[in-house]
Amino acid sequence: MALQAQRQYVWRGPTGPFEVTVDPGVFMPSSTSKVLAEALRVEPGDVVVDAGCGCGVLSLVAARLGAGKVIGTDFSVAAVACATANAENLALSGVAEFRAGHLMEPVDGVNADVVIADVSGIPDAVALVTGWFPDGKGGGRTGAELPVEMLAQVADHLRPGGRVYLPTGTIQDDEAILAAAHDVFGSAMEPVAKKEFPLPDVVATSEHVRELIDEGTIHLAQRGSRLSWELTIWCCTLAGGQ
Ligand SMILES: C[S@@+](CC[C@H](N)C(=O)[O-])C[C@H]1O[C@@H](n2cnc3c(N)ncnc32)[C@H](O)[C@@H]1O
Repeated sequence: MALQAQRQYVWRGPTGPFEVTVDPGVFMPSSTSKVLAEALRVEPGDVVVDAGCGCGVLSLVAARLGAGKVIGTDFSVAAVACATANAENLALSGVAEFRAGHLMEPVDGVNADVVIADVSGIPDAVALVTGWFPDGKGGGRTGAELPVEMLAQVADHLRPGGRVYLPTGTIQDDEAILAAAHDVFGSAMEPVAKKEFPLPDVVATSEHVRELIDEGTIHLAQRGSRLSWELTIWCCTLAGGQ
């Protein structure tokens, strides 16, 4: 992995512009972060969990949208330190705090109104060739493994009627993720944003990615001479609310 320098990043999505620092080894906010933020609805006072917070950008958006409390979690200790410093710099540390650990483990005992479920969900083979993830690791062989594990835990950390914002992409085994989400939320799942992206050439030409395409795990669309993948943001609501 190439050495990555600390970078300043200007967030121009909802509630922006504002600046965050992205430390070496921490995920750089992406187009998915922006589409997710555009779809995110936070009511004043909501308790929000941001699972896979990276530099904390979506936690900070949730705080600026009026959340009463935001807890960002990430497996990466560097990400948690980076997000904590970003919240301090934006005078949001009274609302947003960050905890290190696996998936929902750091929020045991928390009953959230909203969970932002943006944990790594790209096949490892895609992560390896794109450099999208500073550690070169995605969300498992098919990209579904980590999101599916998170979905199995999420209902224990959500109040009845609470919402999960879940990104899925045709560049991962989205059918496995949607099946796991359906087990938890039934039919209370609504696509709230969609966007298509061109597939980077390094992905299109990767042998390991070709295997995933051939076996039908990931499904890309042909657009002229290029392949593209589609991102969907789902809003999933837990049964039992008003
Ligand atoms: C796609 S990035 C999203 C980061 C952030 N939400 C953003 O928009 O910039 C996914 C994040 O999930 C984190 N992650 C990977 N494995 C994890 C795990 N087992 N538990 C919690 N977070 C994890 C990665 O460190 C990374 O920061």
